[in-house]
Amino acid sequence: MRKRTVTIIDNQSGKSAEFPVRRGSYGAPVIEIGDLYKELGMFTLDPGYGVTGSCRSAITYLDGEHGVLLHRGYPIEQLAEKSTFLEVAYLLIHGELPNQAEMLTWDHAIKMHGMTHEHLNRFYSGYRYDAHPMSVLTGVVGAVASFYHDEMDIYDPQERLITARRIIGKMPNLVSKIYRYQSGLPFVYPDNSRDYVENFMSMMFSWPTEPFEINPVAVRALDLLLILHADHEQNASTSTVRLAGSAESNPFACVAAGIVTLWGKSHGGANEAVIHMLEEIGVPKNIPAFVERAKDKNDPFRLMGFGHRVYKNYDPRATIIRAACHNLLDEMNLNQPLFEIAMELEQLALEDDYFIERKLYPNVDFYSGLIYQALNIPKQMFTPMFALARSAGWIAQWMEMMGDEDFRIGRPRQLYVGAEKRDYVPLAERG
Ligand code: ACO
Repeated sequence: MRKRTVTIIDNQSGKSAEFPVRRGSYGAPVIEIGDLYKELGMFTLDPGYGVTGSCRSAITYLDGEHGVLLHRGYPIEQLAEKSTFLEVAYLLIHGELPNQAEMLTWDHAIKMHGMTHEHLNRFYSGYRYDAHPMSVLTGVVGAVASFYHDEMDIYDPQERLITARRIIGKMPNLVSKIYRYQSGLPFVYPDNSRDYVENFMSMMFSWPTEPFEINPVAVRALDLLLILHADHEQNASTSTVRLAGSAESNPFACVAAGIVTLWGKSHGGANEAVIHMLEEIGVPKNIPAFVERAKDKNDPFRLMGFGHRVYKNYDPRATIIRAACHNLLDEMNLNQPLFEIAMELEQLALEDDYFIERKLYPNVDFYSGLIYQALNIPKQMFTPMFALARSAGWIAQWMEMMGDEDFRIGRPRQLYVGAEKRDYVPLAERG
């Protein structure tokens, strides 16, 4: 059968060129337009990259029309129910689920990289006591780069794997210290007798004078949140990590760049913004007024936790999180008025033509903040929690890119719409 191609015809010059169409395992086929400039002397323009693929990837697949999310082929629903965050991290990085021996080795390796250099602790005290934790996280993760600079060969697959273990191992430690510092509590070293999530909770919440009691319900809930945030294809922060990495930058610095992008409320910052919004709504009777504001084009307000660039159907992670939120609040016997408001708001929006026509559904972060709140994680720490989880995806994507035979620096083009060439006029002669 003849290979599928797309022909682009320039109706002004009359020139045309044929471009190959590539099919992946799933998803829309892509037109490979690398030779476009050579053939027709043109670039493409796609602000926001709505239809532009930036790489080949075998890590995560999502189908926004049907609400499907697969990591290395495994549906998110199955991973959420049966796996752990640490196993999902292994899957993202290695491409396959581990056997028991591999899982033990992985778990051990992550633990062995859980410490940070003692001098790094001083960075925390350089921040104001009320600095936003995402600002601190950007700084301290960037600072880790300085401890692994010249000694790391980013072209050696084994060293890339060690880097991945370091990032996944150190993130709970780095994140927990932000909370400890801001709460005026001493830093807690990792305890390698504990599992990954337990260990994080002990570093966050243990009291220096008391033994730390783990709540298994809380551990499972947090593990679930980490699984659901571990990777999500070529989103803004992941693309940032890849772009920074394409310049052969230090991978810890690349992760710091991803953290900066995640911070924005259009992306990971939405989890914190949702809680602010629910608190502002306050009582159910105020919900309709907020929905009206979200629809008003003269008002910049948007329903936080609603809408997604790719999902034009319910975000499958939101379905899982919504049920988990219900269960957690029941199991912990918590009365969470914000949860009631969230459910009513969701229902009202889903029945509203504005949201129906634009296919705006709750995304993963509509409910995640409510779970973090139930776990006593303060609002400003929500996005760092997201970063902790997403580090696994970021570093898996970085590793994939560094090993890609097509690897080269990312360098988008532009449509220049500025001034035409003109001559400089000395200041004294300008009117
Ligand atoms: N509330 C009200 N209207 C919305 C919302 C919303 N949350 N989201 C999109 N719209 C409207 C837009 O105003 C636009 O309307 P128009 O066609 O009449 O102009 C239409 O829906 C399409 O919106 P775009 O901004 O073009 O969609 P885009 O794909 O660029 O943005 C985004 C996606 C940023 C997620 C957006 O939906 C949004 O701002 N949501 C709220 C923030 C949020 O929850 N972010 C988290 C995303 S998930 C994550 O990163 C974990």
